[in-house]
Amino acid sequence: MNERIRHPGLRNLRRTATEAAALIQPGMTVAMSGFTGAGYPKAVPQALAAHMEQVNAAGGGFRIRVLTGASTAPELDGALARVEGMELRLPYQSDPAVRERINAGTLDYIDIHLSHVAQHTWFGFFGNIDVAVIEVAGILEDGRLIPSSSVGNNKTWLERADKVILEVNRWQPAALEGMHDIYYGTALPPDRKPIPLVRPDDRIGEPWLRVDPAKVIAVVETDAPDRNSPFSAPDATSERIAGHVLEFLAHEIKRGRLTDNLLPLQSGVGNISNAVFAGLGKGGYQGLTAYTEVIQDGMLQLLKDGTLRMASATSFSLSPAGIEAFNRDVEFYRERIVLRPQEISNHPELIRRLGCIAMNGMIEADIYGNVNSTHIAGSRIMNGIGGSGDFARNGYLSIFMAGSTAKNGSISGIVPMVSHVDHTEHDAMVLVTEQGLADLRGLAPKQRARLVIANCVHPDYRPMLQDYFDRACHASYGKHTPHLLGEALSWHQRFIDTGSMR
Ligand code: COA
Repeated sequence: MNERIRHPGLRNLRRTATEAAALIQPGMTVAMSGFTGAGYPKAVPQALAAHMEQVNAAGGGFRIRVLTGASTAPELDGALARVEGMELRLPYQSDPAVRERINAGTLDYIDIHLSHVAQHTWFGFFGNIDVAVIEVAGILEDGRLIPSSSVGNNKTWLERADKVILEVNRWQPAALEGMHDIYYGTALPPDRKPIPLVRPDDRIGEPWLRVDPAKVIAVVETDAPDRNSPFSAPDATSERIAGHVLEFLAHEIKRGRLTDNLLPLQSGVGNISNAVFAGLGKGGYQGLTAYTEVIQDGMLQLLKDGTLRMASATSFSLSPAGIEAFNRDVEFYRERIVLRPQEISNHPELIRRLGCIAMNGMIEADIYGNVNSTHIAGSRIMNGIGGSGDFARNGYLSIFMAGSTAKNGSISGIVPMVSHVDHTEHDAMVLVTEQGLADLRGLAPKQRARLVIANCVHPDYRPMLQDYFDRACHASYGKHTPHLLGEALSWHQRFIDTGSMR
């Protein structure tokens, strides 16, 4: 392992995970690496959870505040949640144990735009960061760090934390070195300057993370894989949604609003975006770019066959087969992939400048085009807004996609009024379900509602929604965005009361 820890002073700080975890005290704010199940610390959080379990079983109340890049994995979020070890968590999460505690009201969760996390930390909005626990792929002779499979907020955590614990993970390919681009030019208002990135492939920083070795209190060696969900083939609903999106993009090219190279693509993770990328691969496209958050399996294949010229992100999210493919051809991918801090991958200035095509999943949309990405029936969190708001507000196009129904048809994905708003009618430009696509650009509210009801709603719910809209147009207090306020959320209440919106 010594070849991975080349700085002599830091080599002398090698500790076991248990020894390192003992340096974290109750009530501390701990910032950890990790973005979408990649590059998160794997040993210290588990050792900490084991210690917390003992203390808490004896009535100790050992809890900390946890900040990350985005979602992590069972070894971090799951382990700490199961021992009631977190009092606060931010930003995006997707762990079932964390979700359960947030919705039970025993864990406070702050769901914010991923681009905001770094600057809010610098502004002091989250208070002091006591300790950062960061996974890296290696440490150079001079103490600079080779980032691992995600960058997330690591630059900010290393700069802002009082103390630093490093996990050096031998499992991460040594060949990751050189793939990252860490930009150190951000400043605080009023001294900010334009960020000099004008194409998705521009490198504007350096391949390593900086850390003050004097702040490092422990170095833990690990050899543990990222959590990698096996890749599953897109289902029929996702294929149909992807089909509508691809037809729409082709239409935009015909209308002259996009060129054959499209514009830099952003996409959330999951079944639908996998289907969209698979469709792009079959659509005869060449030389596309991605300016997004996560590199998924499907994108490796598109890089290989030239559909994608390059991809910029902040994290990998590869299945075991994807990792193998990546490791087999790491030199090829190094030329074509850039991993950046999430304050850059998600930066509104850059997304607006590049003109990204944003494609994200949603829980539900309403007839006027407001989108809920985060809450079930208004009060239960699912995951979080992630980067969807960064891209939806600032992209050239913002597309939201979901099945027209959920839970075996007992829920409609299109409702009279969303039960929680993440993206307003001012930001959502295109809504897509497997039923069809509604292009809302340039339409006034009632025109939008007619199109959404006609194109996106499942036939089982279309008459109900048409009836609601017709009566609202007739009887509403105002005719601009007609609603029957006493009824607007009744579909959700019916679901809570009876298990179905029908
Ligand atoms: N009401 C209740 N539950 C719903 C629902 C609705 N209207 N729509 C979806 N769901 C449930 C599904 O049934 C499923 O539940 P399960 O896990 O118990 O099976 C779950 O939500 C996920 O839905 P799925 O259809 O599998 O879609 P997905 O995996 O694409 O996730 C979001 C959809 C909205 C949860 C997901 O895209 C998300 O978290 N988005 C916000 C963050 C984001 O956009 N990130 C991208 C940039 S970082």
